[in-house]
Amino acid sequence: MGKFTLGVIVTLLVLVLGGLGFTMLGFFPTAANVEPPHIESSLATRAMDQSMERHAPRVTNPLTPTDQNLEDGMKLYTMNCALCHGGLDRKPSSLAASFYPPPPNLISNPPDDPEWHIFYTIRTGVRYTGMPAWDKTLSQQDMWKLTMLLSHLDKLPPAVQEYWKTNFGVATTTSVVP
Ligand code: HEC
Repeated sequence: MGKFTLGVIVTLLVLVLGGLGFTMLGFFPTAANVEPPHIESSLATRAMDQSMERHAPRVTNPLTPTDQNLEDGMKLYTMNCALCHGGLDRKPSSLAASFYPPPPNLISNPPDDPEWHIFYTIRTGVRYTGMPAWDKTLSQQDMWKLTMLLSHLDKLPPAVQEYWKTNFGVATTTSVVP
């Protein structure tokens, strides 16, 4: 065996054993009440976007954005998502800073991704984060209503904006369901 090959093997062994030792001897941090370093967030976000590009089917929303569907979306959001992502009353989630990584506020900062992208996130969740996969809890229809709400939040029809103001605008908690 050449000296070069031996060098490569030894280096790889040291890296693998070092990584294993780091983890098995308890050096790996597990606390969730700290902010992830920038490099980690940007790498993880990139990995997630790329994985979604590869895996997510390019499906279109089978529902039409009627007032009723959007209002249903608001109820579903309040019941299932507001706890982590912030309420329709625009109050930030009190839990948000306790996650690693923290859930984004979807009301003040709605996603500008295509609907197939948002739907896939809701349906399959995000591994190694607090974002659950909703496919075992919500129907396809409800997941599409939520997707629709998030992608239309900046351009809601006047009647739905009125519904929002009346039912959620002055709510003091995020668990109020109309
Ligand atoms: C227990 C907490 C929790 C609940 C409940 C929750 N999420 Fe999440 N969600 C997260 C976290 C944490 C992330 C961030 C994942 C990451 O950093 O990639 C996230 C990410 C997302 C994203 C991606 C945002 C982006 O910027 O790309 C969407 C969309 C989303 N959630 C929608 C929902 C919807 C809709 C519901 C309700 C059906 C919901 N979430 C319920 C914790 C939660």
